Amino acid sequence: MPKPTLPKKAVKPAVAAPAARTGASKGACRVALIGFGTVGRAVTKILCETVLGKNGDGSLRLTHICNRNVERKKQAWVQNNVPNNIPSDVIWTDDFHAVLNSDADVIIELIGGLSPAEEIVRGALQAGKSVVTANKQLIARHGPDLLQLASSKGARLEFGASVAGGVPVLPALRTGLCGDKLHGIAGILNGTCNYILSRIESARIPFSEALEEAQARGFAEADASEDLDGGDARAKLAILALAGLGVRVAPESIRARTIRTVEAVDFDYARELGCTIRQISRADLKRDLNQDTLFAEVGPSLVPVSSPFGRVQSNQNLVLTSGKYGGDMAFLGAGAGGDPTAVAVISDLKLVAESLSAGNDRSVARSVSAPLLTPETSCDFETPWYLRFLVRDRPGIVARLAQILSTHQLNIDALLQNPGFDKAALPFVITLEPCRNSQLHPALEEMSALDFAIRPCLCLPILR
Ligand SMILES: NC(=O)c1ccc[n+]([C@@H]2O[C@H](COP(=O)([O-])OP(=O)(O)OC[C@H]3O[C@@H](n4cnc5c(N)ncnc54)[C@H](OP(=O)(O)O)[C@@H]3O)[C@@H](O)[C@H]2O)c1
Repeated sequence: MPKPTLPKKAVKPAVAAPAARTGASKGACRVALIGFGTVGRAVTKILCETVLGKNGDGSLRLTHICNRNVERKKQAWVQNNVPNNIPSDVIWTDDFHAVLNSDADVIIELIGGLSPAEEIVRGALQAGKSVVTANKQLIARHGPDLLQLASSKGARLEFGASVAGGVPVLPALRTGLCGDKLHGIAGILNGTCNYILSRIESARIPFSEALEEAQARGFAEADASEDLDGGDARAKLAILALAGLGVRVAPESIRARTIRTVEAVDFDYARELGCTIRQISRADLKRDLNQDTLFAEVGPSLVPVSSPFGRVQSNQNLVLTSGKYGGDMAFLGAGAGGDPTAVAVISDLKLVAESLSAGNDRSVARSVSAPLLTPETSCDFETPWYLRFLVRDRPGIVARLAQILSTHQLNIDALLQNPGFDKAALPFVITLEPCRNSQLHPALEEMSALDFAIRPCLCLPILR
């Protein structure tokens, strides 16, 4: 089959078709890279060291490097990479339309964000070019439509680097595990949160100090809200749900809780329960004849110290999957960083180049071949809970809280109060036996309104 196939009418007029390449005779796969930042530079470096020019087998050729103000990027590259091993015939440009109009077979999109990344990816797919991207925001919001577009144009869209950086969990979900019926996915998907929580735990520093440290070490952006408040992780969870559970879910419909409210004292109390605290993203699909439900949320949670989640340190990522036939699987590794992420991008690129070379233009992805489910989204998990109160101490506080909990049919499992705290701001903990979020919520509102409460209690699920 000629590849890429070029639809006669649907292509945007401004975008030229790549020349047809068939079978082994078609020569090198022509690759254009758009976005020459951290990951783009790492992709270029590794391509130059492993597959381009004299280091390669001639199957790939880099045609363009595209970035705004590209001359500045080129100069910085030449200064920092002696000898400069980018082939001299590569075109450096700041005009992505020119790249879309070129004869490149594959576009690597590494700009990030929605605009102009969406225009670039749609334009490339429209023209029958395949796309490799690491863009989680784009795939989380438009993945199903873009996959559909790719499929209809006989092109491929690969996004293995968009979740968990260098950890090959998405390729595993889309191919290696597509023979199973997965029903659950849970992960530590945000390295910034994991770094900050690990530092609060190990150095016993306040959240604000841990954040400053993460920013100074390059593990957190100046505005880290997307990471801290769960926006980044829920976009990744939406992509995992798409690839692994065959579910179309809008990231905004997944509840996200911030890690900003976690304090060093919570790690002390968690430790007494055999646990630590991590930002966990989880999605469980419950199938039902009447209505499928995707239980999903992102937020700080207690996990056993001895569990796989409890052992994840610094900025690593971990994803656990649960399948009906294959049982549980774990994927662990570097969730970010130029080089690990570039490995995922290049692995996708090689896959695409091979399939183009073989004339196989159909993705084997389950998320394309099977119709997607559109379940109701809920955060109403049933779990045990950790409630940490901060109160102005006085007699009768525990009795009052116990009364409210009992009114709402909630069972106390344990009461923890360490000595040595200022009575004017006393932290103590109540843990609850399993109940649903919806059952707990009204009790929390009542308890937070009590006059001895200094601030609303911190409520975290305990994941056993
Ligand atoms: N870094 C990681 O560890 C990591 C991990 C997993 C996934 N990702 C994903 O990989 C992608 C790239 O991330 P990154 O860390 O490499 O980002 P980055 O360092 O900010 O690089 C983005 C590059 O795109 C350029 N760019 C931005 N807007 C542009 C526009 N409108 N036109 C042309 N060029 C533009 C930027 O140019 P300027 O220099 O002028 O800003 C920069 O060179 C993102 O989707 C990100 O989510 C990154």
